[in-house]
Amino acid sequence: MSLDLHLPAHGRGRGLAPGLRDLLRQRPASWDLPELPAIGGPLLGEGAVADSQRACARLLGATHCWFGVNGASGLLQAALLALAPPGSRVLLPRNLHRSLLHACVLGQLEPLLFELPFDPATGLWLPPSPEHLARVIAAGQVEGPVAAVALVSPTYQGLAADLPALTAVVHQAGLPLLVDGAHGHGAGITAGADLEVLSLQKSAGGLAQSAALLAQGPRIAVAALERSLLWLQTSSPSALLLASCEAAITALGSTEGARQRARATAVATQVQQRCQALGLPLVSSDDPLRLVLHTGALGINGLEADNWLLARGVIGELPEPATLTFCLGLRPPRGVAWRLPRRLAQLRRALAGPPLAPQEPPPLPLVGTLALPLGQAWRAPHHTVPLAAAAGAIAAEPLCPYPPGIPLLVPGERIDAARAGWLQRQSQLWPGQIADTVRVVAD
Ligand SMILES: Cc1ncc(COP(=O)(O)O)c(C=O)c1O
Repeated sequence: MSLDLHLPAHGRGRGLAPGLRDLLRQRPASWDLPELPAIGGPLLGEGAVADSQRACARLLGATHCWFGVNGASGLLQAALLALAPPGSRVLLPRNLHRSLLHACVLGQLEPLLFELPFDPATGLWLPPSPEHLARVIAAGQVEGPVAAVALVSPTYQGLAADLPALTAVVHQAGLPLLVDGAHGHGAGITAGADLEVLSLQKSAGGLAQSAALLAQGPRIAVAALERSLLWLQTSSPSALLLASCEAAITALGSTEGARQRARATAVATQVQQRCQALGLPLVSSDDPLRLVLHTGALGINGLEADNWLLARGVIGELPEPATLTFCLGLRPPRGVAWRLPRRLAQLRRALAGPPLAPQEPPPLPLVGTLALPLGQAWRAPHHTVPLAAAAGAIAAEPLCPYPPGIPLLVPGERIDAARAGWLQRQSQLWPGQIADTVRVVAD
């Protein structure tokens, strides 16, 4: 029997939000309805969906909530487009999900990609301090005005930023903050952020593609948000996915949902304690349901560890060069508390060696700008060159391992010699994910 430790967090339905479980017991597809007057849709003022969005906004402390049926990706795009008119500059973190980059192409925005603190032991980006973010904003504003700032919190591995302090820094600069809270439960809105996007399959009990956009405060133009949602969302939103949005958010605030999370957390604590008792190195995470094995400390690349475990029926979520993240989900699989630590100890016996060399941060400035506009570079005539020969060229494609969907190189960036060397070394660390060639803009 496989040990499924990946998303969606409902774990093959075991931890599905109760309202959704009830719906799925009904006759198949009897719930697959159009936007009938009684039901409405995310952009309509009347009907069950509008009522539900209002209730979910109240529950999460926002003034507005829109359900989305194209994942956090679709809502992040709509959010950024609403914050920034064409031609404007937006500060995006280097650990951005690629959907924000796609938003820049669609909205003709200029991404200013900013560095984050980097942990060489694990190779993970860390949440920025308020001082770091203040320096980023000041550097971003040197060459001209900035329309908005985005942050990711928590990260895929469950590292949470000090959002109240960071929100204050962004607001002091007179800018709106968009929090990519795909892996969280709305801490951005609680902290005062203007917009937050949740992916309701990642840390709530919804189906894949169900997501929510939360908004509040005077920096947000509701009409602009609704306009960009209109541009980017389907005109036939799936009633099942809309019901999934409602059920997942409702469960976040219900006693039953809290009990379910507490039970899952108790199991996760047992897993952690057994791993620690076996001397297995874990990276500390703010999300108890994300278990991050520090494979680098065992001398194992996380992608290699993942392949070894996959062959033995353990399906993790996110392999990276020095870590492997498991999502325990809202109803962890039976026996995980002894099966996973035992397998990880076997992995160590089979593959461990001296700790890996420290991971290298990309050689980049605090705030990076593009040599060519993103959309222009991505569409430009191009040719393919080995990374070893890419120095001096301009990227015509992103280099982006998936998961996590964080680009290592962005179209329009000039690849200098240091970056070309770094990318070559990254392609060794991400076997099968990063090619040793890259498309560059033709001269
Ligand atoms: C930080 C972050 N934001 C956004 C997304 C996109 O979420 P979705 O797959 O729901 O579109 C992901 C997906 O992995 C993510 O990790």
